Amino acid sequence: NGDSGGQSLSLGFEPVAPTDANQITVPAGYTATVFLPWGTPVTGAYPDFDLQANNTGEQQEQQVGMHHDGMHYYPIDVNEGGNSSTEGLLVFNHEYIDADAAHPNGPTTLGNGDRPADEVRKEIAAHGVTVAHIRRDSNGQWELVHGSAYNRRITGATPMELQGPVRGDDKVVTRYSNDGTATRGTLNNCSMGPTPWNTYLAAEENWHGYFACRDEPMPKEYKRAGVMAESRRYKWELADSRADAYVRFDATSTGASATDDYRNEANTFGYMVEIDPFDPESVPQKRTALGKFGHEGVIFAPAVEGQPVVCYSGDDSRFEYIYKFVSAQPYRAATADGSLLDTGTLYVARFNDDGSGEWLPLSMDDAGFVQKMTDAVGTMVGDIQFDAAFEDQADLLLNTRLAADIAGATPMDRPEWGAVDPQTGEVYFTLTNNDNRTEAQEDAANPNGPNPDGHIIRWMEANGDHTATTFDWDIFVFAGDSGTQTVVEGDAVVELDQSNLFNSPDGLWFDSDRRLWIQTDGRWGEPWGNNMMLAANPDTREIKRFLVGPTNCEVTGVVTTPDRTSMFVGIQHPVAWPEDSAEGHPRSSVVVVTRDGGGVIGA
Ligand code: FEO
Ligand code: CA
Ligand code: CA
Ligand code: CA
Repeated sequence: NGDSGGQSLSLGFEPVAPTDANQITVPAGYTATVFLPWGTPVTGAYPDFDLQANNTGEQQEQQVGMHHDGMHYYPIDVNEGGNSSTEGLLVFNHEYIDADAAHPNGPTTLGNGDRPADEVRKEIAAHGVTVAHIRRDSNGQWELVHGSAYNRRITGATPMELQGPVRGDDKVVTRYSNDGTATRGTLNNCSMGPTPWNTYLAAEENWHGYFACRDEPMPKEYKRAGVMAESRRYKWELADSRADAYVRFDATSTGASATDDYRNEANTFGYMVEIDPFDPESVPQKRTALGKFGHEGVIFAPAVEGQPVVCYSGDDSRFEYIYKFVSAQPYRAATADGSLLDTGTLYVARFNDDGSGEWLPLSMDDAGFVQKMTDAVGTMVGDIQFDAAFEDQADLLLNTRLAADIAGATPMDRPEWGAVDPQTGEVYFTLTNNDNRTEAQEDAANPNGPNPDGHIIRWMEANGDHTATTFDWDIFVFAGDSGTQTVVEGDAVVELDQSNLFNSPDGLWFDSDRRLWIQTDGRWGEPWGNNMMLAANPDTREIKRFLVGPTNCEVTGVVTTPDRTSMFVGIQHPVAWPEDSAEGHPRSSVVVVTRDGGGVIGA
């Protein structure tokens, strides 16, 4: 059974040296192949990609989006208990776009500051998620199954529903959804998480930059998230058609009430969004009980029959937090679905300096939280004047970061991906970097002020129980240049060298043999070379560089087939890659890594 794993945790490859070569570099005996780059026709009329970026918005809606990020492979037969390693659904995120590459001559701004509506339509369509039905042919090459009903594009315009406590709240009423139950699109989908019931949760990370709000005072929900008077990304609200689909990105009060305008539109982003890749007609569901913040991704603990479902999520911004959700209802494999994520308890982590930790409930039903909230009324919480207690759980969730501030969570050095060791249950999180932490702000869990290179933290829940409210943590490894040490009780348990120096760990994933794959999104040039992917042994902390990406890219998103013989890796924002891309129009892409003659990747 190729899915059993855990047998042979070897890292048998020759480590790749740091390199600034504009290509994918993998160890001897491995091959990397570009697969499903931006613009690949994937649905509808399958419009051909134009290398000079002349495709229209309507065509982009039928093509793979830009800036590939988190991804997951679902065996085609997984819902029947199968684990095909030759046919499945590859689901992958498109985090954001490069507007210079997206259009023939970059983005157009008209004389009055407006933007041509079709450019805006194309940019929105290049966001979101792709579901691609893929198959390995008799020559071992992966191909898209042309015409498959599973192939789908979900974009920044796809109709979606809100679920959980925020559904129907006054603060999500818009001109589009007068009852506050629906919205359009998902944006800035960074990482993701496969659920125990074989759906896909896409994270909404840096959603705030897509919106403008000129209300004074700025609503606290927007202020704490960093929404500004002008949108900082693409100015979609200025589409010259002034179509409703675009003006919604201006979240300023202009009408008499919330049903007249889009003052609340930005309250409908910042969630984990559930997509059922096996049901192409399904409406994506925003699961609000998991909190609203800069969701990097989500990682589920292994589901246990009759026990709550547990998942972990990082908020990737400087000095933000790590969260955990524990469902109210037990997991039952026969009936489990996304409604498990609509009721439960959201916790935020406190890392004590003695190596212990606590999960602090963010709940209006928790007396301890309510006391802290009541005490905070009338005070400044950070730079927010907290002038009234949260009205209910929906209000709390719309202000998740503020609630976590009040609870006393530990501000972290940008929590990115998490991974759960399939054998020990330990939870690992990347803390990518934080140049703004000062020496005075150092604590044991974030001990470097500043922290330009990042580190990886891990913890074990009390008694190995993912529903526990306490844990013990340690630092798995500090990233950095050659000579960087990770010291445990006076011993350097890791000292980085040419074979494994790295900075800014971001993507993180355990394969079923317990290889821990680490991807970077950091500085390049000497001594680092380009961004990369490494593999680690969680027991020995041996780390080896496995793959280096092309110039200026970030390496993000990784999964293998169940037999671990095909690995899918995301290459985001290259500048002159792949080889056949036109100048100025590079293409983010998946790459498939295989072993010459077959075999387990990394073994
Ligand atoms: Fe989208 Fe935090 O990386
Ligand atoms: Ca990331
Ligand atoms: Ca990052
Ligand atoms: Ca990125």
